[in-house]
Amino acid sequence: MVRDLLRITLLGSSNTTAARGFPGFDPARDIPSLQDKVVLITGAAGGLGRQTAVEIARHGRPRRLYLADLPRDQVASEALLREIKEEAYGAEDAAAVTDPSSLFFLDLDLQSFESVRNCAARFAADNEQLHLLILNAGVLRMAPALTTEGYEFHFGINYLGHALLSRLLLPVLLRTAANKPKKDVRVVVISSEGHTMAPKAGVEYDKIKTDCAHLMYLKRYGQSKLALIGLMKQLSREHPQITTIAVHPGRIVTGLAQGLWKESNIARWTKGIAPLLCVPVSKGIQNHLWAATSPDVVSGTYYEPVGIPGTLSPTAQEEVFSKKLREWTDEALKEIAPL
Ligand SMILES: NC(=O)c1ccc[n+]([C@@H]2O[C@H](COP(=O)([O-])OP(=O)(O)OC[C@H]3O[C@@H](n4cnc5c(N)ncnc54)[C@H](OP(=O)(O)O)[C@@H]3O)[C@@H](O)[C@H]2O)c1
Repeated sequence: MVRDLLRITLLGSSNTTAARGFPGFDPARDIPSLQDKVVLITGAAGGLGRQTAVEIARHGRPRRLYLADLPRDQVASEALLREIKEEAYGAEDAAAVTDPSSLFFLDLDLQSFESVRNCAARFAADNEQLHLLILNAGVLRMAPALTTEGYEFHFGINYLGHALLSRLLLPVLLRTAANKPKKDVRVVVISSEGHTMAPKAGVEYDKIKTDCAHLMYLKRYGQSKLALIGLMKQLSREHPQITTIAVHPGRIVTGLAQGLWKESNIARWTKGIAPLLCVPVSKGIQNHLWAATSPDVVSGTYYEPVGIPGTLSPTAQEEVFSKKLREWTDEALKEIAPL
């Protein structure tokens, strides 16, 4: 635990390798055209999600790109779509920037089952296909809190909200994968090296419907990120026709760090050295982009630096962990998403 804390807080283990990137991976050159794809990214207004959306839009203009994030008014969501299109296509390409049929904003509050269900229903109403689902949204905060349904805040948003969303979108993913000729269908799960900070039990199921104030915030975050690896393993095991992978994006100064600077003294004190330990967003998203597009990914794998299998905690390696998580999740979601 102490060793992992030091590794994560001081050494930023994967940052130097993430900065170098997967040998030979050059997003500009290696991302194929995504022209016919339908893509959905959660947390797509945040640091990594937004830039991933720009890069994906830039590569062949996917048929439809959905940005799902916390609800905002129409002016704000349209401004976000316009900014992304301008960055991807160039502000001078007026036809592309004003085209209303390629980029869409979806309201999604992962802490509410109802919001997740509405988001999935809105997507499914307009789409027969989904080629790429990036489960990217995430929170890291210190103050203990509960989600709408009463789950620990990090677990409820980072894991359970995404588990529900992927469950509701699974029929469309499977339908897309069943197409002939065979389509490349992927789920990319944004986890973290912080999964190694999870409590000893992995997930404390008996306390998960409390704010888990007995755990330090890094453990609460770690628990949720460990569970995301369990979700990745379960999807990969049960649905081999879909490629499912998890990544740690490196350490990048985004909204996540800005939130911590507000709440944590240690984070504020070490703010000055953050640029030394972090990579820029353009490097951080290489993990997202590689996992989303490379032919070299192996389903069921967690990657830490770009393209290199990461060090899974002992719990994450146990098959029994993802099986138990699956059983617990089936029970928790049985009313909102019966199997
Ligand atoms: N940055 C890093 O160093 C780092 C390291 C390891 C893993 N990660 C992971 O990378 C992913 C992206 O994080 P980031 O660094 O880009 O942070 P970020 O800038 O804070 O982006 C996170 C996004 O998730 C959204 N979000 C928060 N709560 C949500 C909810 N209840 N429902 C739907 N969306 C919600 C945020 O919206 P608001 O901004 O409106 O709150 C934001 O757009 C996260 O899963 C994070 O855990 C990041």
